[in-house]
Amino acid sequence: MYIFEQIGPLEEYLNSCREDDLSIALVPTMGGLHDGHLKLIDKAKECSDLVVVSAFVNPTQFSESEDFEAYPKTLSEDKKLLKVAKVDAMFTPSDNEIYPEGSSQDYDVGEIGKILCGISRPMHFNGVSQVVARLFDIVKPDYAVFGEKDYQQLLIINSLAERQGIKTTIVSIPTVRESDGLAMSTRNNYLSSEDRANAPLFYQQLEATKEAILSGADISRAIEQAKDALNVIFDVEYIEVLNANNLTQITTSSSEIIIISAVRLGETRLIDNIVFRRLDV
Ligand code: PAJ
Repeated sequence: MYIFEQIGPLEEYLNSCREDDLSIALVPTMGGLHDGHLKLIDKAKECSDLVVVSAFVNPTQFSESEDFEAYPKTLSEDKKLLKVAKVDAMFTPSDNEIYPEGSSQDYDVGEIGKILCGISRPMHFNGVSQVVARLFDIVKPDYAVFGEKDYQQLLIINSLAERQGIKTTIVSIPTVRESDGLAMSTRNNYLSSEDRANAPLFYQQLEATKEAILSGADISRAIEQAKDALNVIFDVEYIEVLNANNLTQITTSSSEIIIISAVRLGETRLIDNIVFRRLDV
């Protein structure tokens, strides 16, 4: 596996691969790798000849009060995992390499960036868009693979690619879970053992809400009940039932539905979602 810290040598390597007609898939990450990331890599391998994984803890997507400093930095473990996964190239740039002129660029994240996580984290998707656009510009991948765990992020990246005429095909994979249902996340490492034992109740409640809706429960009542049940263990930031295609309010004809939520457990913020179809519409 090649490891690049600088853009120049990475671009040289990628250009020579393109001359050999090899297709390129990019998997952007912030390191702190877990099995969910490895599944993205499996998908990337299915799509293309060559897989590049970036590991960059992007400062612009954290606000000052957030966990940028504490975010797990596990570079040597990540390198080992990526070598075992037979990734072709790892890109671990410095802040200066990604943002040589600072990070003033302002992205319009659209209405979809202003709801849900965009309310408590107003600059977050702007930072995500900045770094993803920059990585796409550097790597010029044929494919880029993202997880449905960060569903709002995925839709924002889809719309960014569309609006900027980016030729990369955006591919996604379903959320990868621990055996008890908890969505894998680098931030799960922050959980105390007691909180870790309680954390699967988050997904269990989303499943129960889905079942209630599928059995015909009134949606606003189902959300209220879910909120009350979750608030026993967690602090609910939001839980909403929306049209999964565009995160707008559902109508009687919406068939693709998402239950999407963010909660706090102690100091740790968890997000999760379930997407399902209503067959009767
Ligand atoms: P990070 O949290 O490291 O996640 C990198 C990619 O892995 C994202 O596409 C995310 O959706 C996916 N992912 C994380 N946990 C997953 C899980 N349990 N199942 C499936 N996919 C999962 O998301 C980011 O980094 C950053 O915002 C980034 C896009 C890299 C921009 O900085």
